[in-house]
Amino acid sequence: MSSKDTDFPFANSWFRVATSQELSTTKVIPLHYFDKDFVLFRNAQGHPCILDAHCPHLGAHLGYGGKVQDGIIRCPYHGWLWDEEGHCAGIPYSDKSPQVKIANYPVTEINGLIMMYYHQQGALPTWQIPPIPECNSAEWTPLRLVRRWTTRTDLKNYLDNSIDVAHLHQVHSQTFKAAQSDSVEIEGPVLTHKMSQKYNLSSLSSGGLISEDGNVTTTYYGAGYDVSFYWTQGKFKLGLLQIFTGTPIDGDRLDIQVFFSVKKVLPAPLNQIVAAMMRKDTETTFEQDMPILENKIYKSHPLLLEEDGPIGQCRRWASQFYE
Ligand code: FES
Ligand SMILES: [Fe+2]
Repeated sequence: MSSKDTDFPFANSWFRVATSQELSTTKVIPLHYFDKDFVLFRNAQGHPCILDAHCPHLGAHLGYGGKVQDGIIRCPYHGWLWDEEGHCAGIPYSDKSPQVKIANYPVTEINGLIMMYYHQQGALPTWQIPPIPECNSAEWTPLRLVRRWTTRTDLKNYLDNSIDVAHLHQVHSQTFKAAQSDSVEIEGPVLTHKMSQKYNLSSLSSGGLISEDGNVTTTYYGAGYDVSFYWTQGKFKLGLLQIFTGTPIDGDRLDIQVFFSVKKVLPAPLNQIVAAMMRKDTETTFEQDMPILENKIYKSHPLLLEEDGPIGQCRRWASQFYE
C-alpha cells in the first residue's frame, strides 16, 4: 500500500529498467516506469538509450512495432526516424526536418543491468553505480534473475523492509535463527549496513564444515538498488551475492527483481546443489515479505526499538533522494 504522504512517490535515483541480456542491438523495449512510457534501445555503439515513448508526429508508441537500425529508431506509424538523443533523423516522404526533440534520459549499463536515472525535475546524475567485480568473475556463478514481483508497495516501505533486522527471524525463521545489526556507514548516496546472522542451514552444516554463523554486508546505492554479500564462517565459507532492485511502476506498484550469484567454493556438482538451494531460499524468503509489504502502511513516526535495526537512520539517509 502506498504511503500516500507525498505528491512525489518516486525517488531521484538510478533504477534498473532491464537486464543486459534482454536488450539486443536490434530490439526496442517499451518501458512503463514512474507512471510514464519510455522506449529503450541501443545506439550504434551498443550503448543503451532511453527516450519518451510517443512520437511527436502523431503520437504512436515507438516501442510497439518500432524498428531500430544503427541506433536510429523508426516509428511504426509513418516511418519518421529518431536518433538516440531524440532528434528527428529523417522523414521517408519529406525533406523537411522539424526542430522537435523527444526527451531522453541518462542510462548506464553496469553489473549486467541497464539502469536509468530518474529525476523529478530532469536533473542529471551526480553519482554512478560502481562496477561489482564479482558480477564478472569466474569464481562466482553467472548473475541470474531469481524472480520478479510486481508488488503493491513503494520505495519507502520497500527500504524499511530491507533494513529491518527484527523481522528476519520473525518472518523468515526457516532461514534466520538470529540477526543483529553491527554497523551503518553513510557516504552521500551510499549506505552500507553490516549484520551478524545465524542461519538455518540444517543438513548443510552437519559435521561443522559449514558454520551457521555468518555475516552480511548490504550496500545501498540510492533508493532502488542494493547489493548484499552473505558469508558463512567455518571451513567452507559459502558466499552469496544478492542484488535487489525495486523500480517504481507508478505511485502504487514496484517492479522488484532480485538477482543472485554464489561463490564457487565447493566441487562443481555440490556447488550447483548449494546454489539451487540458496536461489530457492532467496525466493521463498522474499515471497514471505509480500503480504506484509502489500498491506502495511507507512508510519511516519513508528515506534522503533534499538533491536529493530537502523530503520530511522536509513530513512534519514533516503530523504536526500526526495529533495
Ligand atoms: S506517429 Fe510517428 S511517424 Fe507518424
Ligand atoms: Fe524480509
